[in-house]
Amino acid sequence: MKAERFLSKLNIEKGQTILITGGNSGIGKEEARMLCKCGCRVILACRRVEAGNEAKREFEMEMPGCKVQVIHLDLTSFESMDEFIEEVQKLDLDAIHFNAGIYRVPFTKGICDFESHMAVNFAANYYILDRLLPHLESLPHPVKVLFTTSVVARYYRIAPICYDGGKRYKKERSYAYSKTALNMVYLTLLKRSKSTNIIPILVHPGICFTPLIEKAYPNKRFRLLASKFIRFFFNSPKKGALPALLALSEATKSPCLLGPRGLFHSAGIPKSYPLYRGNLKNAEEMLLVARERFAKQGIEIKLN
Ligand SMILES: NC(=O)c1ccc[n+]([C@@H]2O[C@H](COP(=O)([O-])OP(=O)(O)OC[C@H]3O[C@@H](n4cnc5c(N)ncnc54)[C@H](OP(=O)(O)O)[C@@H]3O)[C@@H](O)[C@H]2O)c1
Repeated sequence: MKAERFLSKLNIEKGQTILITGGNSGIGKEEARMLCKCGCRVILACRRVEAGNEAKREFEMEMPGCKVQVIHLDLTSFESMDEFIEEVQKLDLDAIHFNAGIYRVPFTKGICDFESHMAVNFAANYYILDRLLPHLESLPHPVKVLFTTSVVARYYRIAPICYDGGKRYKKERSYAYSKTALNMVYLTLLKRSKSTNIIPILVHPGICFTPLIEKAYPNKRFRLLASKFIRFFFNSPKKGALPALLALSEATKSPCLLGPRGLFHSAGIPKSYPLYRGNLKNAEEMLLVARERFAKQGIEIKLN
């Protein structure tokens, strides 16, 4: 089924306000575009504000009168995250999507001395959510909280090595750990949200050709080969945005995991399926370690 046909069947309520981190690029940008088409007000939280403004201009040319706002967010900086949190606390959001992320980057350290995948994809989102939760819970209507995970999150068992990259740093493994840890944030929020207005939802886009993948695999031969099979094993960024759009539609009223229905969940139209919990046994410890590291910096994380 074509993305447009699937989208035409989704009922996304007009006038909602939805914030997407990393909404200037790839899947987040396509999600924002489609939400604008549905008459939603979209807030793009971007590390590169100029790229956010460019996306805004593009949407306005395509859909005159659409409502798009750009705000700054750098997930590597507490100063930026605190400014972002202050700004968002003034907003009446219907949904927030933690979409921004990094993949297969060279070894560096990020906030709380975490390896950078863990720092950006997990710890920063954990911190922001913890700070925003009282505000989101105070809103007089349901608020959907979306997290972008990945199919690779299920393939690695959690070990202490994951926090700092280990002696033999492996990019793919560190990325997978960071998304597993994000799954744990989802499960923690799920526990807490049972009697509140918060609806946590995990989405994953399958595998999509976006700047993230292009930067991770600069090899031309690989990309040529992949493009031959793209229709079967890869989603376009537009199709990759469908799980999030399904999550934001009226069809989704309760917590779930949404991802492509194809082989290995790598491509296709989205559906809901159970979260694989086989490797999550030790994962709770990841949140504990994060809280301890935040505490060392004088930051108390209440979401646990
Ligand atoms: N593409 C796939 O196959 C795939 C598969 C599974 C999961 N995902 C997940 O989907 C999400 C979106 O990825 P994508 O494929 O659309 O890639 P993308 O086009 O590279 O988008 C990633 C976004 O995250 C932003 N970002 C990165 N580091 C940041 C930071 N420190 N602070 C704030 N924003 C930051 C990027 O900003 P800049 O534009 O400034 O770099 C960009 O807007 C990611 O979480 C990724 O892990 C992707």
